Amino acid sequence: MDPITALLDDLLAEVRPLTSGAPATYIPELATADPDRLAFAVVGPRGRVRDVGDTDHEFTIQSISKPFVLALALSERGRDAVLAKVGAEPSGEPFNAISLEKHTGRPANPMVNAGAIATTALVEGAGIDDRMTRIVETLSAFAGRSLWVDEDVYASESATGDRNRALAHLLRSHGVIEGSVDIAVETYFRQCSLLVTVRDLAVMASTLAFGGVNPVTGHRVVAETVARDVLSIMASCGMYDFSGEWLLRVGLPAKSGVSGGLLAVAPSQFGVAAFSPRLDAHGNSVRGIAAVETLSERFGMHLL
Ligand code: DON
Repeated sequence: MDPITALLDDLLAEVRPLTSGAPATYIPELATADPDRLAFAVVGPRGRVRDVGDTDHEFTIQSISKPFVLALALSERGRDAVLAKVGAEPSGEPFNAISLEKHTGRPANPMVNAGAIATTALVEGAGIDDRMTRIVETLSAFAGRSLWVDEDVYASESATGDRNRALAHLLRSHGVIEGSVDIAVETYFRQCSLLVTVRDLAVMASTLAFGGVNPVTGHRVVAETVARDVLSIMASCGMYDFSGEWLLRVGLPAKSGVSGGLLAVAPSQFGVAAFSPRLDAHGNSVRGIAAVETLSERFGMHLL
């Protein structure tokens, strides 16, 4: 085992005893997750992947799709058009909050659900399939392999997605969503239901770390300015109402999702990802947070 993989292995052993938190239950299909799955991966500048634990286990990407769909919307529409529909301010509120500016109805940022649905509505394409094709292509390019949707999780999410539908109707009432609410919401549910491994997430993080070029495939996925914009928003808003404390403690742009994934980006150095479905009250992975925080400390990765 090379020294970095050995270090990651030690890190897993350190966080495994943390048994607080539980898988999300508000999407019934997510409640069936094995709480003790655990995996960790790191990708460096030459595209070398190091991963430990349940590295082949697939889980749905959930909210970690948000920064990558934001990257697509920024690439297609440009920063000003995106900012006209969704802000760039931390909301200090939970991920499913009715986080809309008083007069304009603009969501606080693209990382809370309201802002993510508004961002998904900006993706070009006539219907759900058209938009999903673009989203799947983009996220697959970030991951360096073809991703696909878990239809059971999608069905479960769509069947219980009343709050997100309500948010989308509010967005349309303010003109933030201009087209069909159903297309926006069902596309959003499908993007959240894309299956990934911890290794995929680390490669996706590394593509942001290296200015939009996937270090494994060597392909440019988005412009450097787009990668920088996405990282800026992840730094201030990526961990919901824990974003400020996360930046203080760990000092890296990051994004979490309710199935237990977490990725963090050390610009020009590493893409990092963790998977453990035990979530804290903010909807962030307990062991994932502990592992990335320890890694950041040991490698001196804090940006500030
Ligand atoms: O909107 C939802 O409920 C989910 N599909 C995504 C939420 C999510 O991952 C929030 N993360 N912590």
